[in-house]
Amino acid sequence: MMVLPRGVRHIPGHLDRDSQKALVEDIRAVVEAAPLFQPIMPRSGRPFSVKMTNCGPLGWVADRKGYRYQPHHPVTGRPWPPMPGRLMALWAELSGHDQPPEACLVNFYRDTARMGLHQDKDESDLGAPVLSVSLGDSCLFRVGQVAGPSPSKSFRLDSGDIVVLGGESRLVYHGVDRIYPDTSTLLKHGGRINLTLRRVNASD
Ligand code: SIN
Ligand code: FE2
Repeated sequence: MMVLPRGVRHIPGHLDRDSQKALVEDIRAVVEAAPLFQPIMPRSGRPFSVKMTNCGPLGWVADRKGYRYQPHHPVTGRPWPPMPGRLMALWAELSGHDQPPEACLVNFYRDTARMGLHQDKDESDLGAPVLSVSLGDSCLFRVGQVAGPSPSKSFRLDSGDIVVLGGESRLVYHGVDRIYPDTSTLLKHGGRINLTLRRVNASD
């Protein structure tokens, strides 16, 4: 069986239940200020099965014009809400990077949503890792290689787990094969939230 590429770190159960609940409240406030929107794949025009929003100075968006970071919400035109302190602290604790994250992408998965294998490569600062937090229902996460999607290995991510993609695996292919519905009671109406913290620009 393939071992995870070096630089991929899975930290199961890093956040206890209370920290998870506090983060959900933070995200609730973010979504109130910056409603979830439906991203579109630039070439095909097909909508993602995942809904998204962002917090922090920059947010990742996808529409007919392409994939990019921008300082405002694509629908409301307002700046993204600030990055919650709890997420700044998590980044300081786990990223090993001396500059703060600039973007937190909030992905919301309903029962049948998934995310195809891809690289996170819209950032110019590849020295900083990508730090991702799982909340709510569990999922089957898949990690491939930097050179391409295969060979790949899948493993389950549960609420409170953290994944760090850094170092030589900063550009590793990854995706979400499926959600396991009703596996968590954290979110009142079910589903899975993934928070992805990223540094976008090389320096301030
Ligand atoms: C992503 O790669 O954008 C999302 C990963 C995840 O949902 O765990
Ligand atoms: Fe990603």
